Amino acid sequence: MMPVVAVETETLLSRFLHIRNQTEVLCRPLLPEDTVVQPMVDVSPPKWHLAHTSWFFETFILQKYFPDYHVFHKDYNYLFNSYYNSIGSRVLRQARGTLSRPPLQDIYEYRAYVNEHVSVLFSKINEHHLTEMWPVFELGLQHEQQHQELLVTDIKYILSTNPLAPALLPPLSKSELFSVNLPEPEYLSVAAGLYTIGHTGPDFCFDNELGAHRVWLDSFLFRNSLVTNQEYLQFMEAGGYQNFKFWLHEGFDLAQQEHWAAPLYWVKQPDGWYRFTLHGLQPVNLQAPVTHISFYEADAYANWAGQRLLTEFEWEVGAQQYSPDLASGTFLEDGLYDPQPSPGQTQLLGDVWEWTYSAYLPFPRFNKAEGALGEYNGKFMINQMVLRGGSCATPRSHIRSTYRNFFHPDKRWQFTGIRLAHK
Ligand code: AVJ
Ligand code: FE
Repeated sequence: MMPVVAVETETLLSRFLHIRNQTEVLCRPLLPEDTVVQPMVDVSPPKWHLAHTSWFFETFILQKYFPDYHVFHKDYNYLFNSYYNSIGSRVLRQARGTLSRPPLQDIYEYRAYVNEHVSVLFSKINEHHLTEMWPVFELGLQHEQQHQELLVTDIKYILSTNPLAPALLPPLSKSELFSVNLPEPEYLSVAAGLYTIGHTGPDFCFDNELGAHRVWLDSFLFRNSLVTNQEYLQFMEAGGYQNFKFWLHEGFDLAQQEHWAAPLYWVKQPDGWYRFTLHGLQPVNLQAPVTHISFYEADAYANWAGQRLLTEFEWEVGAQQYSPDLASGTFLEDGLYDPQPSPGQTQLLGDVWEWTYSAYLPFPRFNKAEGALGEYNGKFMINQMVLRGGSCATPRSHIRSTYRNFFHPDKRWQFTGIRLAHK
């Protein structure tokens, strides 16, 4: 028994140290000044992400399982608690950009302090506590991976709002495959039937994927490829943004009000369309999947094209049936931070999160966990839409076919894209 536990704790600890380090690698090219600004309420300053992910381990692991644990700093619970009412009051979300103090250096020391204490904890924890702690610890790892994706999208937004439009990373070269000719899209078919939706089995999943249940699906056809920039440009050039008949009322109003005429980050120059990326301003690659569009735009595009978005249930079943290349897309580890053309691949996982036409609701037997962690997902199950599949900013080991992401329908700063189903 003992050696097995020792081996397992070692892999858990090495995963921990690896994931913690990855977060810091993402932040390494930033200036300290980049890490404090909050240009909109949805975006958190990178310094806050670095601290909040540490706070999560401090609060849910070290304070519970490390004997006589002393917190790194008494005020950090107030500063870096995100939204857990059970844990107490906190800096309002919209005020995260006011945290010019503590300095970034202190936050890196906080991270090291938490890492060291977790390492010590693993060296002395007994089997009983380990078993009890394990699922929460795993949640801490998955939580940090979620924040890695948020770091990429938030850093991108922060830099894009700086008038200097700084390029964080060197320009992309061969990965921007301008010459590829994409094959004509094909349609994949799913037969009518009763299908099991939701996660089953021993591997990790979030609570919002649990409560597997059956759903009847009529037969449907869905596209093997994502909607490209070229296709989206046709919608733009056909006056798609101006024509109310393709739009939900809320979306049309917002598009008018915000003067939306292209995806977020697109900039028109005399010689054509460019996009702000973490690699600087890059010409729009017509073959790449369109990204940084709201649910409203995805839906308007689908209507214009005479098609529709998939439901989250259709998406899950489709992804499971056409899974040979589930791992073929672009993920965080590729270091590109931009969706890529992928001729002949479905890109069901990776590249862009696919907006579904499903509201983010609890599955019928959804149960929220006891205590503070019950606030993790359940309380957000209103007024948001489900996205499936992961993106070029999602760690590969973080995603699966049952994964349910969720954002409000007006949000554009995540790597969001479009997959169509036949009407
Ligand atoms: C699943 C991406 C919507 O951004 O609040 C981070 C992820 N949950 N910390 C979010 C999350 C807790 C969540 N999303
Ligand atoms: Fe969080």
